Amino acid sequence: MDRLLINGGVSLQGEIRIAGAKNSALPILAATLLTYETVQVRNLPHLFDITTMLELLGCMGVRTVVDEKLNVEVNSSSIEHLSAPYDLVKTMRASILVLGPLLARYGKAEVALPGGCAIGGRPVDLHISALQSMGANIVVEEGYIKASVEGRLKGAHIFMDLVTVTGTENVMMAASLAEGQSIIENAAREPEVVDLANCLVAMGADISGQGTDTIVINGVGELHGCSYSVMPDRIETGTYLIAAAATRGHIKVKDTRPDILDSVLRKLEQVGADIKVGENWIELDMHGRRPRSVSVRTAPYPAFPTDMQAQITALNTVAKGTGSITETVFENRFMHVHEMNRMGATIKVEGNTVIVEGVNALNGAPVMATDLRASASLVIAGLVSENQTIVDRIYHIDRGYECIEEKLQSLGAKIHRVTA
Ligand code: UD1
Repeated sequence: MDRLLINGGVSLQGEIRIAGAKNSALPILAATLLTYETVQVRNLPHLFDITTMLELLGCMGVRTVVDEKLNVEVNSSSIEHLSAPYDLVKTMRASILVLGPLLARYGKAEVALPGGCAIGGRPVDLHISALQSMGANIVVEEGYIKASVEGRLKGAHIFMDLVTVTGTENVMMAASLAEGQSIIENAAREPEVVDLANCLVAMGADISGQGTDTIVINGVGELHGCSYSVMPDRIETGTYLIAAAATRGHIKVKDTRPDILDSVLRKLEQVGADIKVGENWIELDMHGRRPRSVSVRTAPYPAFPTDMQAQITALNTVAKGTGSITETVFENRFMHVHEMNRMGATIKVEGNTVIVEGVNALNGAPVMATDLRASASLVIAGLVSENQTIVDRIYHIDRGYECIEEKLQSLGAKIHRVTA
């Protein structure tokens, strides 16, 4: 199993490019099931989760052609199986995103019920009840969500009890081919939802209100092919910026979007970073200063993202002062804290809040990653440690960060991958 070896203490300096957004690419690949025509998806990130989604489409009989730049052409006219098997769903919960498109296009779908995961229970009840209100018959048996509909799904007025990103996406895709109008209230406003909506519009869907909490979809009879470029990954962007701030560095990230990172950039300014932005780049300079602690509360967009909670916690471990981090989206997302404490951090967990008292530097140790973003936070902890840190189980990182060690090396970090 691969591990990352990190010798900390280096301030990150230099420039990197940001990849396409994983959380946009996954629903967009699922959306290709909504048409028989070929959809070209560009700027796909080079990640395990993307490979898993392509494998899932492939095992349904969908044809995918990937070119050397990792643009992919998907044509679902050869589809044979309308199901997502447990073996794939258990490695990637986002497989649930094929439920809405399969049901809307083919009237039938079977998707293994995703289980709990390292960050909590994560049910999909809201996906199911929304599709039921559109006329779907859904039963959950033998570990599978078995869904069918007579004729087309019917547009419906849906109120989401909680803000759910993939739930909003599943319903938006299904509603694109439903009969009549659907309105999703309390919809997720995440930029990835907007990116999916824009791709669906490019495929001929009639959608408005994306980016607000009310999305209106007028169903159409058919969607067509298109060529669509996935937006940049805001979580990857934020992770490198936080790593640079934690190491008192100076970096420029290119091919990104500052306009969707407001909450993170404001926090980094409070940390003491000097931030400059252009249309598609962000430059962060700590002028060699130690970061100041910040307090953060995660919540759905546009608030501070839960997917950057672990990374900002890592920054606070070596910042001046005490900061509190409150997690409101997931019930159990502090697994990284215990590993950071093993590295000499001073973090106390109190319910859904952690209190971090900054120390001068951490001490490297062998640590284990439990989920994608926790892994990234342990890499940041390694970068601000004296001695060597070994991060184990890095397959989590490969699910969501493209070439993380190459990108960090190009910023001067002493990090390399070893295969045990
Ligand atoms: C997506 C992102 C993930 C991010 C999360 C929150 C993708 C592929 N993944 O995950 O990286 O951390 O949004 O920004 O885009 N919930 C229910 N019932 C449901 C659905 C959700 O109770 O049917 C709860 C969840 O347990 C959680 C909260 O709602 O507490 C938000 O989850 P949700 O937005 O659905 O997360 P995902 O879409 O799975």
